[in-house]
Amino acid sequence: MRVLAIETSCDDTAAAVLDDRGVRASIVASQDLVHGKYGGIVPELASRQHLLAILPVIERALADAAVTLDDIEAVTATYGPGLVGSLLVGLQVAKGIAFDRGLPFVGVNHLEGHLLAILLDRPVAFPYLGLLVSGGHTSLYLVEDLGRYRQLGRTRDDAAGEAFDKGAKMLGLGFPGGREIDRRAAAAAGDRAAVRFPRASLKRGLYDFSFSGVKTSLRQYLLDDGGAALEDVCASFQEAIVEMLVTPTLKAARDLGATTIVVSGGVSANSRLRTVMTEAGAAAGFDVAFPRFAYCTDNAAMIGYAGRARLLRGERHDLTLNASATLPIGVGA
Ligand code: KG4
Ligand code: ZN
Repeated sequence: MRVLAIETSCDDTAAAVLDDRGVRASIVASQDLVHGKYGGIVPELASRQHLLAILPVIERALADAAVTLDDIEAVTATYGPGLVGSLLVGLQVAKGIAFDRGLPFVGVNHLEGHLLAILLDRPVAFPYLGLLVSGGHTSLYLVEDLGRYRQLGRTRDDAAGEAFDKGAKMLGLGFPGGREIDRRAAAAAGDRAAVRFPRASLKRGLYDFSFSGVKTSLRQYLLDDGGAALEDVCASFQEAIVEMLVTPTLKAARDLGATTIVVSGGVSANSRLRTVMTEAGAAAGFDVAFPRFAYCTDNAAMIGYAGRARLLRGERHDLTLNASATLPIGVGA
């Protein structure tokens, strides 16, 4: 089954073509330049930018896959969670194509896409532990099967990517700032112990996360003009976030007897998180897997994987399917 997949849940316009041989094309048009000068995503601008980009992005994906719309056999798109004005653009274009062509259509939960993205690269046996770390989410799941996701923990305040982005803004770095902090810390071999930022440890909700404390202490450190070099502050701030992600994840893996830990979402591109999770995971006897970089940040290939699996199981959504900003994911979702 050759599937066209569309993803517009936030600020990336993405389309992909997948068939039984895997991903044939995956195109992502970033809006970073549009939102960069505001230091954060402006929802209305994101929707308008999706409207401009969506058809050229689909055309590029079809051209890269060396197919035309006539070759597409089913359509899938993200229908939540996310910015509703952004979701509506991709969802409506997907439904329009399905309507015009009389093709089967299914909507996909964006979080399911992230949790399954690893399967585009390699097989992983169920159940596995899935840490989802992005700009909007920081949650831990037991991925029991396709469509069965048991949430074990979540952030109590900011998402890890949000903490990186807000920290980067305080440091006067560009948007989105996570990548920038990572780059600065790595390029100059920043001293990770230069500043000792606090690590939140939550008693209730064993596998929960919290990043507001580290964010506040960075603000205070800068107000007090602590004096460390920028790359050292970046490395220390990053180290605190990474440690607060790795500790509950390893604890959950031990408690639940999972053998594989999969880290996905935009923050899984973080080089220090990759190193620490892999080394600490291996030392504790776990297999730690990350999707390739292009499938870590928002993309339509992961939506295509989840959508195609659902379509192959015979699942369909009616073309009245609406976008949902807060679409939950869970067992049987
Ligand atoms: O998954 P994603 O592309 O979008 C959603 O939030 O759904 O994640 C974007 C987030 C941003 O907060 C960005 O700063 C962060 O991922 N990010 C990183 C890195 N690359 C992207 N954070 C830390 N280190 C990175 N290398
Ligand atoms: Zn995402």
